[in-house]
Amino acid sequence: MIGSDLSKAASLLSNGELVAIPTETVYGLAANALNPEAVVEIYRVKNRPSFNPLILHIGDVSEVDKYASHIPELARTLMRVFWPSSLSILLHKSENVPDLITAGSPKVVLRMPNHSTTLKLLKRLDFPLAAPSANISNTVSPTTAQHVEDGIGKKIPYILEGGTCNIGLESTIIEVQGDTIHILRDGGITREQLSQYGKVIFTQATDKVQSPGQLSKHYSTKKPLYIVDRIEKYLEENPKQKCSALLFQQSEIQCTTYLLSSDYNLAEIANSLFAAMRQADSDENEIILIEKVREEGIGRAVADRLKRASTTNL
Ligand code: TXA
Ligand code: MG
Repeated sequence: MIGSDLSKAASLLSNGELVAIPTETVYGLAANALNPEAVVEIYRVKNRPSFNPLILHIGDVSEVDKYASHIPELARTLMRVFWPSSLSILLHKSENVPDLITAGSPKVVLRMPNHSTTLKLLKRLDFPLAAPSANISNTVSPTTAQHVEDGIGKKIPYILEGGTCNIGLESTIIEVQGDTIHILRDGGITREQLSQYGKVIFTQATDKVQSPGQLSKHYSTKKPLYIVDRIEKYLEENPKQKCSALLFQQSEIQCTTYLLSSDYNLAEIANSLFAAMRQADSDENEIILIEKVREEGIGRAVADRLKRASTTNL
């Protein structure tokens, strides 16, 4: 059920139930992070593997020291500068954080989301919220309350309405070591923004996964999604395809088209990507085509999500 009742959301969460919450990135599936039984429900509803840890959401920077320890000075600076925002920071966890949240890791990801409804909710609660994206694992993340309803609406008691997510892609996840900012997942806060405060390095996924959002198949559509150099050229070489095309600007092509931006604006593209992927996935065509996106600013996060959603890079 979708609604705007903050008191209801707060009391459900206090009773150990799940509530979907709006954030500026994507909707989250929230539970009381300090209640292991509630957190287990998140894994069950999402069908999420238990080795994949959850982000802890807090309502105020002052709460950081309750849940993290040995916080690097640069991490504190970034919190001061960027929070509330779509910057998530991997830190040593304190003993207050249940192992279930971190999937046994000694580190926890903290984030203060920038959405007025959810900030109000967090201020009413005396516990932080564990919240992954509010979708079944490996499907496209929700950017409206209706997307959540369509995906997991029957499995949870309440979805807090917060409009369409401003950013539309998940948060950037970083870890700070000395003067270096390691990017574990590209997202709403860009490398360019962060580079004003330290040396920025992209840390590729290793065997020991630091951020399983980096694993290859994720964010998938049911239909094959192909990333191509030029859609026109692809259609010349592969004619008579029943195709949907996600476009970065106006173009006349023989597909059902979904315009992500009218003039290649990367923020608009990020913002409309997931909704368009859902629409294209449910139309009558057989494949979804999209061109390689310019990898700068938030374009890197767009490229990352597309790579994970795609069948093949053509
Ligand atoms: O924008 C966002 O970050 C959204 C909203 C709801 O806040 N949340 C989100 O959560 O994207 P989720 O669970 O879909 O993605 C979080 C990523 C996962 O890839 C997870 O593996 C990684 O963060 N992660 C969380 N805690 C971690 C930890 N302790 N160590 C390493 N990776 C962690
Ligand atoms: Mg997710």
